[in-house]
Amino acid sequence: MSNNSKNIVLGICAGIAAYRMYDLINELKKLNHNVTVVLTHDAKNFVNELTLKVLSSNNVYSDMFDPKAQSKPMHIELADKADIVLVAPATADFVAKAAGGICDELLTSILIATKAKVYVAPAMNVNMWNHFTTQKNVETLVTKLGYTMIPPEDGDLACGYSGIGHIASNEKILNVILHKDSEAGLLSGKKVLITAGGTREQIDPVRYIGNKSSGKMGIAIADVAYDMGAEVVLVTTTPCDRPYQVIEVEAAQEMQEVVEAEFDNSDALIMAAAVSDFRPMVVSKQKIKKKNEDVTIELTRNPDILEIIGRIKKDHQIVIGFSAESENLEKNAKEKLVKKKIDMIIANDITNKDIGFSSDNNSVILLTKDGGKETLPRQPKVQIARYICNKLAEMFNNIKETRKV
Ligand SMILES: Cc1cc2nc3c(=O)[nH]c(=O)nc-3n(C[C@H](O)[C@H](O)[C@H](O)COP(=O)(O)O)c2cc1C
Repeated sequence: MSNNSKNIVLGICAGIAAYRMYDLINELKKLNHNVTVVLTHDAKNFVNELTLKVLSSNNVYSDMFDPKAQSKPMHIELADKADIVLVAPATADFVAKAAGGICDELLTSILIATKAKVYVAPAMNVNMWNHFTTQKNVETLVTKLGYTMIPPEDGDLACGYSGIGHIASNEKILNVILHKDSEAGLLSGKKVLITAGGTREQIDPVRYIGNKSSGKMGIAIADVAYDMGAEVVLVTTTPCDRPYQVIEVEAAQEMQEVVEAEFDNSDALIMAAAVSDFRPMVVSKQKIKKKNEDVTIELTRNPDILEIIGRIKKDHQIVIGFSAESENLEKNAKEKLVKKKIDMIIANDITNKDIGFSSDNNSVILLTKDGGKETLPRQPKVQIARYICNKLAEMFNNIKETRKV
């Protein structure tokens, strides 16, 4: 295998679109990739094992309990071997099992065991796709497990319906899994530290002061930066399982300690976390008892992580902050950009219910220290993340160019 060839485990589920994988395997082989096909039990009704074996030049697997298997269980063997796991077509059933962590057969078990990047290309009837549980499960795969969805497309479906459910074209699938887009590798060689989620400031053993941040924006940035080749360290209050380093923290002071320690050998910091400005002066060791009188909790200032990092950052390091505002969006964000001595600030209006906290969409203004301003209208957070990471790559290039002069 050449340096660029990848071990691709292709999981095929029981849907009509399964036959399209014959061509996809051919394309992958032509590009010198090693494809190993794993069929779900029901997928055997839709494709021919011998054909898949010949096309892929590899054995085709579907049995968890194959007595001819090596001493290492087959699901672990295949999970470890994979550089990429692609599930196409993914059925509604598969998406539900994967979101629920069910390991009832070889393919679903590989998914749980693998540390490889996972891509999922669903295909199904439009009503199955739009069903609440399918949508919820897809969201879990993307936001909680970091899988990349190659969404189904609008069109005439084999079941006679018209609508979203058609598997993405083989060309689209290839482009996504092989990063044929122009962004691939834009951040390779760079270590990018990203924070996500809202901090929780302990009041007593059961209560805390928190905020509405879901962590979605920061996690989306981390995912995109990773896809663009960066070494990613995500410091988050929202737990998630990812193929890059994830450090879970809870309170602002904890986040500060981790960020300061990691920043020294990082090339960039993107502070997408909503860090509480205050914490209780005293944390009660016991649960505060209900009494017939009001309770006053005295608050003290938390460290301003961006300001601390802005002070210690070196010329080659880039620092990007977020500014969640409920009024005077641009003016307040500009002041923060200058005061914290950072390179770029991303401002969003948290009073707009359609965007920001917990939403999958956002709309932001990007302000740079050299006076640049860009407005990104309402769009999925993943797209905003893409834009930010491209901007970061551009900023690294500018530093390189300035150094040459
Ligand atoms: C003719 C036929 C076509 C089907 N096509 C699809 C499909 O495109 N997408 C889907 O989610 N389920 C489809 N199903 C239902 C799945 O085959 C069924 O849920 C199966 O148990 C899924 O198995 P798997 O997820 O283990 O592969 C189809 C069923 C039949 C009989």
